Amino acid sequence: MTRILHIDSSPRGEVSHSRRMTREFVKQWKQNHPGDTVTYRDIGRNSIPHVDEPWIAAAFTPIEQRTPELWEAIKISDRLVDEFLAADIYVIGVPMYNFSVLSAFKAYIDQIVRIGRTVDFEPENFENPYKPLVLNKKMFIITARGGSDFGAGERNEKQNHQDPYLRTVFGFIGITDITFIHVEKDEQGEKKLAESIAFARIQIAQLVKG
Ligand SMILES: Cc1cc2nc3c(=O)[nH]c(=O)nc-3n(C[C@H](O)[C@H](O)[C@H](O)COP(=O)(O)O)c2cc1C
Repeated sequence: MTRILHIDSSPRGEVSHSRRMTREFVKQWKQNHPGDTVTYRDIGRNSIPHVDEPWIAAAFTPIEQRTPELWEAIKISDRLVDEFLAADIYVIGVPMYNFSVLSAFKAYIDQIVRIGRTVDFEPENFENPYKPLVLNKKMFIITARGGSDFGAGERNEKQNHQDPYLRTVFGFIGITDITFIHVEKDEQGEKKLAESIAFARIQIAQLVKG
């Protein structure tokens, strides 16, 4: 049995492209893999708190020295990390905001990238002190963008701090098997957007068989 963690991060509801496409992905995945389970987390509608000073104090205090106050300060983070680690496959919807991920999703990332939980730090290993702990996972990220041509060698490549960043940060904790599906041209009119959605649907139909 494979466990899927389905995450949406758009603040928009029915008009959200990323939301609609992750829903279609998970529905089709379940048709192909009826025994798999799905956990759903809606970051777009239920804000994740930002990292603050008590959080930092707690996360960097060894477990055996943590006071009840420090445990309380990372309670939400621990719950999110537990949920994240329990999954085998991630299906995540991420809009592009100001060339990167939206802040709601960045807040989530800051909560789950945790020393000792999703990545280890070995200072004695000077050359390569970080050891990823989230191994053998698969991730599908559906991005939604107003513009287009953000790929390697394309005209807006230099503006793209979205999927390169996501590869870097999830790779940092050990997730390297990441497939991106991009829904683009939300700002370029119905026809171009429709073509992009149609292409994303073709990709999804192939990927859910895997
Ligand atoms: C605050 C804000 C910033 C945005 N910044 C960008 C951007 O930098 N590049 C881009 O291509 N689209 C940008 N967009 C457009 C969204 O990426 C696009 O509308 C996308 O479809 C949103 O995802 P959703 O449909 O899942 O809500 C922005 C939209 C908003 C609301």
